Amino acid sequence: MVKAEIGAGAGAGAGADADAVAVADAIHPPWLHLLSAFLAMEPSDSLISISRDCGGGAITESVQNFIWDQCISRADGKASAPYVRSFLKKVILEIESAGAVVADELYEQFAFNMTSSKGDDLAKGDSRIIRKISFLYPSDHVEAQVCQSLRKLIVPLQCSLNMLEGDTGCSIWPSSLFLSEFILSCPELFSMKSCFEVLLTDGDLSTLANLKVNLELNCMSTRFCSSEGILEDPNKVKCLHLPWESALESDLRDLMPDIVLGADVIYDPECIPHLVRVIATLLTTKKSTSIRRDGFGVPNDISGNTQVKNSNASSTDIVNKRYEEFLLASTTQPVAYIASVVRNIDTFNYFLKVALEANLRVVDITQNVKIFDFLPYMRSYQRSSVRLLGIYHSFH
Ligand SMILES: C[S@@+](CC[C@H](N)C(=O)[O-])C[C@H]1O[C@@H](n2cnc3c(N)ncnc32)[C@H](O)[C@@H]1O
Repeated sequence: MVKAEIGAGAGAGAGADADAVAVADAIHPPWLHLLSAFLAMEPSDSLISISRDCGGGAITESVQNFIWDQCISRADGKASAPYVRSFLKKVILEIESAGAVVADELYEQFAFNMTSSKGDDLAKGDSRIIRKISFLYPSDHVEAQVCQSLRKLIVPLQCSLNMLEGDTGCSIWPSSLFLSEFILSCPELFSMKSCFEVLLTDGDLSTLANLKVNLELNCMSTRFCSSEGILEDPNKVKCLHLPWESALESDLRDLMPDIVLGADVIYDPECIPHLVRVIATLLTTKKSTSIRRDGFGVPNDISGNTQVKNSNASSTDIVNKRYEEFLLASTTQPVAYIASVVRNIDTFNYFLKVALEANLRVVDITQNVKIFDFLPYMRSYQRSSVRLLGIYHSFH
C-alpha cells in the first residue's frame, strides 16, 4: 500500500520516545497533562492553568515539587532553556502574587537560566526547538483497552518558532494534529495492509530536510528522493520533493496510492488549481482489484441506504448520504483525507469549485467519523476549528 501525504511538514513521521513514555506511565491526569504540556512546550499560560488544576486552584508546594522533579530537572538542557526560563518567570510571578512561598529550586534554576542565557540558540537567531507531543489514548479507545502498552505515544518533533519557515512547513499546525488523531482513531484504515509504504511529500526543500530530521528522531527509515531520484529503496517511509505546479502527470500516476493524506494545504488560491490537479491525478489511478478496508468498508447499518428517498430529505440525510457514497467509493478506489482549517471562506469555496470541475467529490466527514481526543492537555490546539474532508474521484 502506498499512502501519500502531501504538504507533510513538521508533523509527519510519528514514532515513540521511550524514556519519556516510561516517566509518563507512572503519572495520571491532571499531573500527566501538566507533564505532557511541558514536553510539548505549550504556552506558559496553559501550563500555569493546568498547574492550578493539579493544586486544586493554587500552585501548591506539591505542584512546585512536581514541576521541578518531573518537568524542569528532566528537560533537555540548552535546547529547551529559553522555554524553561520563560515558564519559570511566569510561574514564580504567579506564586508570588498569590502570596505563597516559591520553592528554592525554582528560584535557583531561574537565576541559573538568566545568567547562562547568552549562549542560547534562540539568542543566536536559531528558532528550532524539539517539542515532544504526547498522544494520550482515551480509556474508551479499543486499542488502549486491549493493550496496556498502547496508553500513550510520545513523538519528538523538531519544528520552528518562525511560522513562515520552510514555506510554513516547519511548524506544527492544528490540521496535522487533527489528522494524527484521525489516524490513531481509525487504525483499521491504515494498518491492515501486508505491504505498507508511506510517501511524505512537500514542495519546499527546507521543509523536507526538517521532515527527514524528524523521521530520524523517531527512528523511522527514510530515503530522500529528488525529481531525478530513485524510488526502488526497500525502506517503508520515503520523502519526495513534489511541487504541485511542476509535478508530472506520469510521475503522479506511477505512485498509485491507496490513501492520500493532507494537512492544512488549502490556503493559497494561486496554488489551488495545481493542488487539485495533483489530488485528481492521484485519485484517478483506479486499481483493478478492489481496496478492502476491514472495519471501514460498507458498514451494515448503511448498506441499502445509499439513496435519499424523497425530495424533502433533511440536511442530515444529505450529509449522511454523501458520507455513505464516500464510504462506498473508498472500498474500490483511492481516496484522500484532507484536514483543513477554513481561514478564508472564499479560498475554501474556490477549492470546492475547482475540485468539482476536476470531477472530485469533496465530502465533509468531520461529524461522521469518531475522532478521539488524544491531546486533552493541549489547550492551544482548537480541534473544533479543523474540518476533515473525504475526497474521491467520480468516474460517472
Ligand atoms: C500550512 S503548511 C502545513 C504543513 C503540515 N502539513 C502541517 O499541517 O503541519 C503548508 C505546507 O504546504 C506546502 N506547500 C505549499 N504550497 C505548495 C506547493 N505549491 N507545492 C507543494 N507543497 C506546497 C508547504 O511547503 C507547507 O509544508
